[in-house]
Amino acid sequence: MTPTIIQAGTAAAARVDQTFLLIFGVSAAILVFITLLMVWFVFRYHHARHPQAADIRGNVWAEIAWTVIPTVLVMGMFWSGWTSFKALRSAPADAMRVKVTARMWSWVFEYENGRRASTLYVPVDRAVRLDMTSADVLHSFFVPAFRIKMDTVPGMETYAWFQAEREGSYDILCAEYCGLQHANMLSTVEVVSAEEFKRWSESGAGGDEEAVGLLETYGCMGCHSLDGSEEAGPTLMGIYGKERPIVDGGGTRTVVADEEYLRRAILEPDAELVAGYEGMPSYKEEMPAEDLEKIIRFLTGGAARDLDRGRSLMEAEGCLSCHSTDGSEIAGPTFKGIYGHKVVLEDGTEVVADEAYLAEAIRDPEKTMVKGYEPIMPPYSHLNDEDVKAMIDYMRSLPEGHD
Ligand code: CUA
Repeated sequence: MTPTIIQAGTAAAARVDQTFLLIFGVSAAILVFITLLMVWFVFRYHHARHPQAADIRGNVWAEIAWTVIPTVLVMGMFWSGWTSFKALRSAPADAMRVKVTARMWSWVFEYENGRRASTLYVPVDRAVRLDMTSADVLHSFFVPAFRIKMDTVPGMETYAWFQAEREGSYDILCAEYCGLQHANMLSTVEVVSAEEFKRWSESGAGGDEEAVGLLETYGCMGCHSLDGSEEAGPTLMGIYGKERPIVDGGGTRTVVADEEYLRRAILEPDAELVAGYEGMPSYKEEMPAEDLEKIIRFLTGGAARDLDRGRSLMEAEGCLSCHSTDGSEIAGPTFKGIYGHKVVLEDGTEVVADEAYLAEAIRDPEKTMVKGYEPIMPPYSHLNDEDVKAMIDYMRSLPEGHD
């Protein structure tokens, strides 16, 4: 039987549990001992059996016993607590470092390669040191399974560390009341294998992760490189806007690889074959429109990068802890399909969530509150036009009816 609800996920956590058990055991033993003694005294010294009270004047052995035994017990509990506390506070020098920023009401994890995420991905069996701070008020980073809990303080850096022993998903909670959505300030530690972590970490470092994943999934990378090298097909590096010689009858004509061309080249590649290459299978049947758009956005370069910027900005600013991107409701309306959609405001007026509306909703949310939501969103007036645009572009990339 273990008295803990959540199995310890680290060696340090196991020591914390040991200390807890020791203190609990000693306390329980003392409680039982004193209670039994009391009951026995009540019985033994009842006035019927013991009519005349008598003083005891000094007993050296009793005095030694009640001095030494509690001292040993207290020092033992202290020692166990001190060593397990030290283990929690001594991060190995070679630990992987992750910056943690808490804000109302989300967590942002920033890795050494610049990758940001709202979920804490870590490799198994590797020490991870979290350097933490808060962007606004006091929060507290709490992972029950690792027995670590540390306040995050604005203007100050605190830290915690852990080394997860088992792969899995572990809850992160905020353990310091920080406003209305305190209870929703949740995330997880995803403990994955070293290989999987490496893949995750590298895929995100340059952004465009999802589109590259799609290019891999559809087998595009088998023939098209992203680094300029020629394979069975032309490289995709810098393809956007390039002039392409297209086979036309006996000769060639030139087409500029704009968005429309790229779309056609994926859906019906053989209709406009680039001179010097063999044909390519059509993806007309195979590729849903949504995936096609993601790939096009990636190939057209700037736009793809802005989407990532928009998303990571929204992660960094904490938007995504109240607004989902998958249609689910958190504290605020979902971003999915919001662009171009009608929304009903507090005063009953209906407006279309276009660029102007969304920009105002970000900068001055009080004026543009959507009916039925708590007015808890802080104004983001510190964002410049470019940031706001990137965020709106990101919202626009989340069409309705897709996952
Ligand atoms: Cu953050 Cu409670």
